[in-house]
Amino acid sequence: MRGVVFYDPEQEKQNSNRTITIFDTTLRDGEQTPGVTIPFDKKIEIASQLDKLGVDAIEAGFPISSPGDKESVKRIAELGLHADVCGLARSVIKDIDACIDCDVDMVHVFIPTSDVQREYTIKKTREEALNTAVEMVEYIKSHGFKCMFSPMDATRTDFDYLVEIIKAVKAAGCDIVNVPDTVGVMVPSSTYELICNLKKNADIKYDIHCHNDFGLANANSITAVEAGADQVQVTVNGIGERAGNASLAEVVMALTSIYGFKTNINTEYLTETSKMVEKYSGIKMPPMMPVCGDNAFSHESGIHSQGVLAKSDTFEPGVMTPEMVGQKRRIVLGKHAGRHAVLQNLEAVGIRPTEDQLNEILTKIKEIGDRGKTVTDADLFVVASVVLGKK
Ligand code: KIV
Ligand code: ZN
Repeated sequence: MRGVVFYDPEQEKQNSNRTITIFDTTLRDGEQTPGVTIPFDKKIEIASQLDKLGVDAIEAGFPISSPGDKESVKRIAELGLHADVCGLARSVIKDIDACIDCDVDMVHVFIPTSDVQREYTIKKTREEALNTAVEMVEYIKSHGFKCMFSPMDATRTDFDYLVEIIKAVKAAGCDIVNVPDTVGVMVPSSTYELICNLKKNADIKYDIHCHNDFGLANANSITAVEAGADQVQVTVNGIGERAGNASLAEVVMALTSIYGFKTNINTEYLTETSKMVEKYSGIKMPPMMPVCGDNAFSHESGIHSQGVLAKSDTFEPGVMTPEMVGQKRRIVLGKHAGRHAVLQNLEAVGIRPTEDQLNEILTKIKEIGDRGKTVTDADLFVVASVVLGKK
């Protein structure tokens, strides 16, 4: 056991027998973030990085949406990655053909199934939408491709109709069904119930795709896995439409470090990947972003700094260390700084103040912090040399 005392150890043992696959849609749903266009060569770099990270599938784009998207999906499919490369398609033949032209491994085909989306977007009856979905899945399978089907807006779709369409696409040869919470209206308890009931009524592999409109995308994705979903769709840094998608790093670390599930992710590359996507998407992440944010393993207050310097688990989760995710622990000096933190930073460069000198340095550090400044190493060394310089 890894010591998360609030989580059921028996359940954790069972979880450790399940490997949850990670479907990354940074280059498709992530690129749908308003105002984001990732340049062609950067998409290729991101795809290679995602492969190094160990994701199981990469949704490389929506080939019919633009010639540029089609070109990049094609190039990514040619890279010979370990991950499956997937292209998105509406339930129309020309979209699927565009994916096939790119020679992807998998086609992800979707059709709106909630009444509101079906009536106001594709203007088809329930029966017409079901028949179209079946035809599309049969078409994809007849060309020898893996097929993922998404009943779009599944979480606002009439349950009986949802089961009917899933059973129909399963019979048509569909490999996996994605359950999109397209407008992010689920909560963990409703997600749990939905996935359990779907599994009971239509037995197929399930994937979950959560949007973050109420800030619940990560929690809902994790709960879907607890309920039996086999795969999660995520984006790096949680970028995506409106409030974004579930975040790869946060979902993976919670699934593995708290619940004890297995994934194929090489977690030590999470921060490197996050920084790359931050740079190429132009979407700056807040320092307090969990896992990969600059403050995720930073400590300023004297009590916390002294604690983690003595034993890191005191003020960190313990089951997730900075090294596990490619981060470093930082002791930040500011108005909350304590003696241990200042002394450690000084001793690290061979400066050994007396008790009185240390007290004086600490007072000056707190004065700088009170002026609203973070104390940089340069500030500390200027202060230390002034204090140590006077006799
Ligand atoms: O949010 C959504 O419903 C989607 C689908 C294309 C799966 O992104
Ligand atoms: Zn989406």
